[in-house]
Amino acid sequence: MELKMDPKRTPVSPHPPLPQYYEKAKDRRSFVDRIFDDTAVHYDWINNVMSLGSGVAYRRDALLRAGVESGMRVLDVCSGSCQVARAAEEIVGEEGWVSGLDASMGMLFEGRKFVSAPLTQAFVENLPIADGVVDAVTMGYALRHVSDLETTFREYFRVLKPGGRLLILEFTKPSSRLMFHTSRFYLRRVVPMVARLKGRKAKTLMEYFWDTIENCVPPETILEALVASGFENVSRSGQNQLFSEYLAFKGE
Ligand SMILES: C[S@@+](CC[C@H](N)C(=O)[O-])C[C@H]1O[C@@H](n2cnc3c(N)ncnc32)[C@H](O)[C@@H]1O
Repeated sequence: MELKMDPKRTPVSPHPPLPQYYEKAKDRRSFVDRIFDDTAVHYDWINNVMSLGSGVAYRRDALLRAGVESGMRVLDVCSGSCQVARAAEEIVGEEGWVSGLDASMGMLFEGRKFVSAPLTQAFVENLPIADGVVDAVTMGYALRHVSDLETTFREYFRVLKPGGRLLILEFTKPSSRLMFHTSRFYLRRVVPMVARLKGRKAKTLMEYFWDTIENCVPPETILEALVASGFENVSRSGQNQLFSEYLAFKGE
């Protein structure tokens, strides 16, 4: 099944340009690639400090909740230091197969320390992968960085086998005022201050991290884009309002 993209459609990026980090929308890609390349060696350290339950164990549980199981072929996109791919390798075992992909070579070098999976430098908007070959596409905490939701989701849909599933883990701006202010204080003030121990760029990465969450499109827009891209049984679940797990299926 191939759904045609409306040629008059306006691309939907997950958040508007953030001028405190880059001047124009067209400069976002190079800003994102550079900041991840420059801070890759510190990514796991920062992630572990900040953790908030978003570590490898949380990722493994989320994969299991999404029905990822032994023997599956998994494509983990935006793998970074392979925290999702590590968990996926454990679950699919020797019968299965995991492949990782990321825009940042620096992040892939870090990931290589933890997985035996093949890792490719590429962009999710144009996957170097054949149609209909994977059982699951997984994406951890990177949706805020893509250029256009529908272009990205259509690529995921294309590479999935019929019946295949997509799992996206992402942070969401909490709807309760208390949760929003608590999260903002911790993630926008405390975490960047701690990250500063690893240098100025690590601090900027973590400030950018919260600013993209705060400015991100709402979950409804993400769910709509999944449906528009051909996915079925699209759902969002989450914990603490801050964590979202989007699950979507390609029809048989
Ligand atoms: C916050 S890290 C997430 C890493 C990992 N998935 C995790 O769960 O920890 C985001 C990663 O997405 C990558 N990325 C951002 N935009 C991308 C794109 N358009 N295509 C491929 N990778 C991208 C970045 O290079 C970075 O490594």
